[in-house]
Amino acid sequence: IVEAALEQGVAIHHGCGNGSCGDYKGRILSGEGVQLPFMPLLLTPEERAHKQAILCKLQPRSAMRIEARVDGATELWTGTVISLQRL
Ligand code: FES
Repeated sequence: IVEAALEQGVAIHHGCGNGSCGDYKGRILSGEGVQLPFMPLLLTPEERAHKQAILCKLQPRSAMRIEARVDGATELWTGTVISLQRL
């Protein structure tokens, strides 16, 4: 999610990019994604239950709507994944 956003010029907030800092978590509003491995303590069971995700380690599996902080923005943006491309 973070990589795709950055490629599209959206300065989605992130830190390490490898799942170890937990600098920013986003929230899945709709759709399906796979959460790739990250430091386990970064997401509490309550956060998981509320659909929070480590966005740098989230791979979409369908069209998704997410909530994320964007650097330089004064409000939350929502975005929609409209296509998937296998790298
Ligand atoms: S940017 Fe560090 S865990 Fe995602």
